[in-house]
Amino acid sequence: MSAPLLAIEGLEAGYGAIAALRGISLEVRAGEIVTLIGSNGAGKSTLLRAVSGLLRPAAGRIVFDGEDVTAWPPEKIVARGVCQVPEGRRIFSNLSVLENLRMGAFTRRSGEAAALERVLGLFPRLRERLGQAGGTLSGGEQQMLAIGRALMAEPRLLLLDEPSLGLAPLLVAQIFEIVRTINASGTTVVLVEQNAQQALRVAHRAYVIETGSLTLEGPASVLAADPRVRRAYLGEEDE
Ligand SMILES: Nc1ncnc2c1ncn2[C@@H]1O[C@H](COP(=O)(O)OP(=O)(O)O)[C@@H](O)[C@H]1O
Ligand SMILES: [Mg+2]
Repeated sequence: MSAPLLAIEGLEAGYGAIAALRGISLEVRAGEIVTLIGSNGAGKSTLLRAVSGLLRPAAGRIVFDGEDVTAWPPEKIVARGVCQVPEGRRIFSNLSVLENLRMGAFTRRSGEAAALERVLGLFPRLRERLGQAGGTLSGGEQQMLAIGRALMAEPRLLLLDEPSLGLAPLLVAQIFEIVRTINASGTTVVLVEQNAQQALRVAHRAYVIETGSLTLEGPASVLAADPRVRRAYLGEEDE
């Protein structure tokens, strides 16, 4: 088998005395959608922050496309093709939709117009609102803008931190459908979610994280049928 696009080995990270990740090892292969599911506080965002270079791990290794990026600064990791859409859709409220999208292309030397066309093809709603201030968009539109901004850099690996959080069910379905489309066009995706049901439907493989450790992993369809997952994350009652 070919080498994984992303390999995490024995990763430990935290905040001062708080250990948030207690030795995480996982792999993501090129072309996959891998979901990381876990409840609030499990360490999902911390893991993405470490991969993006925003948080220095205390131990372990992060290897992207064969290169050890563990100690790299965030801008160098972005330049290699790893883009994160942080939790809570942090867009620039006072900038227009178009300006927000252009911010995502700052690492590009060329091809911005083609990237913009692709993003607007994916999100027709953004095209209708190009001149509107980001802050005046609905929650779902802001999430689309946050994802669209990351796509402007044409990442090889897209890290999505709870893209469905706080959205109405119809929008949640749309966002997951877009994740599928992005992946089908060749982008590898790590999808962090509390919404296990939808995430397991769209992902190829899944990991379950509990208090900083991985407890289960496997094909998404297998995990979706696992009684432990069904009880803990899919709201199923005990027999
Ligand atoms: N900036 C921070 N300072 C201190 N502790 C934090 C900080 N961010 C997260 N934590 C703690 O680290 C643990 C993991 O948090 P996080 O990665 O945000 O979980 P999740 O994204 O799965 O909800 C939690 O115990 C949380 O309280
Ligand atoms: Mg989080």
